Amino acid sequence: ELARIGVTGLAVMGRNLARNLARHGHPVAVHNRSYGRTKELVEEFGHEGTFLPAETAEQFVASLERPRRLVIMVKAGAPTDAVIDEFAPLLEAGDMIVDGGNAHFTDTRRREQALRERGIHFVGCGISGGEEGALHGPSIMPGGSPESYEALGPLLEDISAKVDGTPCCTHVGPDGAGHFVKMVHNGIEYADMQLIAEAYDLLRRGAGREPTEIADIFRGWNEGRLGSYLIEITAEVLAHTDVTTGQPFVDVVQDQAEQKGTGRWTVQIALDLGVPVSGIAEAVFARSLSGDADLRAAARRLPGPVPAGNSDLLVEDVEQALYASKIVAYAQGFNQIQAGSAEYNWSIDPGAMSTIWRGGCIIRAKFLDRIKAAYDSNPGLPSLLVDDYFQDAVRGAQDAWRRVVTSATWLGIPVPGFASALAYYDGLRAERLPAALVQGQRDFFGAHTYRRVDREGSYHVLWGGDRKEVAG
Ligand code: 6PG
Repeated sequence: ELARIGVTGLAVMGRNLARNLARHGHPVAVHNRSYGRTKELVEEFGHEGTFLPAETAEQFVASLERPRRLVIMVKAGAPTDAVIDEFAPLLEAGDMIVDGGNAHFTDTRRREQALRERGIHFVGCGISGGEEGALHGPSIMPGGSPESYEALGPLLEDISAKVDGTPCCTHVGPDGAGHFVKMVHNGIEYADMQLIAEAYDLLRRGAGREPTEIADIFRGWNEGRLGSYLIEITAEVLAHTDVTTGQPFVDVVQDQAEQKGTGRWTVQIALDLGVPVSGIAEAVFARSLSGDADLRAAARRLPGPVPAGNSDLLVEDVEQALYASKIVAYAQGFNQIQAGSAEYNWSIDPGAMSTIWRGGCIIRAKFLDRIKAAYDSNPGLPSLLVDDYFQDAVRGAQDAWRRVVTSATWLGIPVPGFASALAYYDGLRAERLPAALVQGQRDFFGAHTYRRVDREGSYHVLWGGDRKEVAG
């Protein structure tokens, strides 16, 4: 018997993905750099389905039906290239290599092009949902050629999460589109986590609530429009008591957030594309600030507002601020997807992305149904913020949102996510922005020219001379 698909790289994500495939009745070839892991997998989980263990790359490739479908689940970066170099010479035209790691989409584009020249389909595939998702149904974001999706789609859809019977997997677009969308997913994940963390900080230090009380508040929010995986697990984390000290778990964890890089990539690429994803950027910077122990030690004695203490911060207001800020974060992320799609000619359907993020992935949330509805009714929506539903939601939330940002400012509690989201909102809706003055400054010191509101063309003022206006 031949395997329908193969997985190489059997660390926890690869192992769980292979098990998921086997559990769905797909015979799966399994391979790992060291055979020990492969043996272990088959010994422990062999009863779950049909596994074909391979000791060598040659055996692995020989055990796959044609066209071959080979999934690599190794660390992004050099290890991925090494595995591709190992397997590509053993493959034939029409075969497919799927990279299920968190690769940078520019690497995916490079690899896709190189392999395409050899007739091999390379499919950069975003997979979200962590270990549990990989086993029970992740959200899957495959890029690559449409032909490769014909051969892979049914398998991937089969093992993906389902919401209302719809698989959380679709062909995102060619070459690096899948990894690009996964990258933005992670950027939104960072923003979402930061906003939730700010809400917690406000409730704890601003409203004086205990972690267990805040856990209950989050549980309540999870029943409403904020309902999402991240809110749900936040309640779990806040309710947890440290086993050794009996303290709230959140108080014994070092307050330095780490990051593996996908959030940073999102912001780097957004800068190149010129898309203001300020919420994601603030989230990345907030992690960096938290992690700079030396700087924080040096700054610990800087004065704060006086008097500081409890405020009249309302729990309901924090919920409103969180919801409004979350809408902004998603609006920015979706704009980045649209900009990337335009830049690389991917024709990504934003509504389809919200559909496949409704289940399986880390940012799964009730309100993705609303995002889907927004793009269904207007596929060319310039921003989620101008969709009727979201516009109304923000209209209803904005007084509370402003109160929260004001209170936080007076309390000296940093809310970079809430505040930058509000600044973005006010920036977008402004009739006139001070950018006009910036243009004037640029023209003054560098003769960079400006455009006028009342006439075509570009102009320059002779600032150093008689200050007449000349054509620029
Ligand atoms: C997912 C996650 C995952 C990511 C972790 C850790 O979609 O399953 O996004 O891919 O690796 O969330 O990310 P950081 O270490 O950068 O926080």
